[in-house]
Amino acid sequence: MKIINFGSINIDIFFAVDHIVRPGETISARSIEKRAGGKGLNQSIALAKNSDSVYHVGNIGIDGKFLAEYLENEKINTEFVRESKSLTGNALIQVDDKGENSIVLYKGANFGNDKDFVDRVFGHFNKNDILVLQNEINMMDYIIDKAYEKGLKIVLNPSPITEEVKKFDYDKIDMVVLNEHEAKAISGREGIDDNIRYFKETYPKLKLVITLGKEGSIYISEEETIRQKAKKVKAVDSTGAGDTFTGYFVANFYQGKKVKDCLELATSASALSVTKKGASVSIPSLSEVEEFMKESL
Ligand code: RIB
Repeated sequence: MKIINFGSINIDIFFAVDHIVRPGETISARSIEKRAGGKGLNQSIALAKNSDSVYHVGNIGIDGKFLAEYLENEKINTEFVRESKSLTGNALIQVDDKGENSIVLYKGANFGNDKDFVDRVFGHFNKNDILVLQNEINMMDYIIDKAYEKGLKIVLNPSPITEEVKKFDYDKIDMVVLNEHEAKAISGREGIDDNIRYFKETYPKLKLVITLGKEGSIYISEEETIRQKAKKVKAVDSTGAGDTFTGYFVANFYQGKKVKDCLELATSASALSVTKKGASVSIPSLSEVEEFMKESL
């Protein structure tokens, strides 16, 4: 089983600030750091901490070679990472004293997908494989259609939310991993119970994993509903915590681990990631996560 993550690759520029800048205000940052990021890249790193057959598919610009090398150093296959003449995607990230963030995205090369490329990619994979998607690239509908035609199982993390996300064909998707705000945006319903009801009634076969912040997370399928408590840690930077959760959960779930164990691993990994600065660089190894789980028993 191969895990193909067709997703964004960004240069993250982190500004450490006292508070997130308000309209009309100018503030100074305490530090500025440039790191590898993008929801796609971050999730590939988290997947690769748990699997040795992760393929990242995506686009970098003329300034992004170091990002492909970064993926390769994490033992991720980059055969389908293309270099284009545009600039690499960028994220301008403010992180405040409480570890909360605010992000401005420049899509850049991430929107360089075309039909020929998508067709070429799916010529190499088959129904034993898993496709992981976020919402920071173009041609999402076409990618979903092609992967479905080939029989791949599709996992979607519909982040960041856009109008297009609401129109995807969820009947073609096996699992959605999302937070409560994203669930509300897709369903148009208020309250977590109403949201769950919406997804169950509209897409009965869809597996759902909803993260609920301090309330933990919940997995819902036709067969079972399993809840997981959150882990308490001192937050330094929450950037990439959702990506860490998704990568850990998905890699372990499709390798056949019990849902309860996958939730516990994903929750612990994302809790650990918020204790460190940065997105991809804050994703812990599996042994760090297992150690943390023993300590937090
Ligand atoms: O989820 C965190 C990511 O969102 C950052 O790495 C940034 O690139 C944005 O895409």
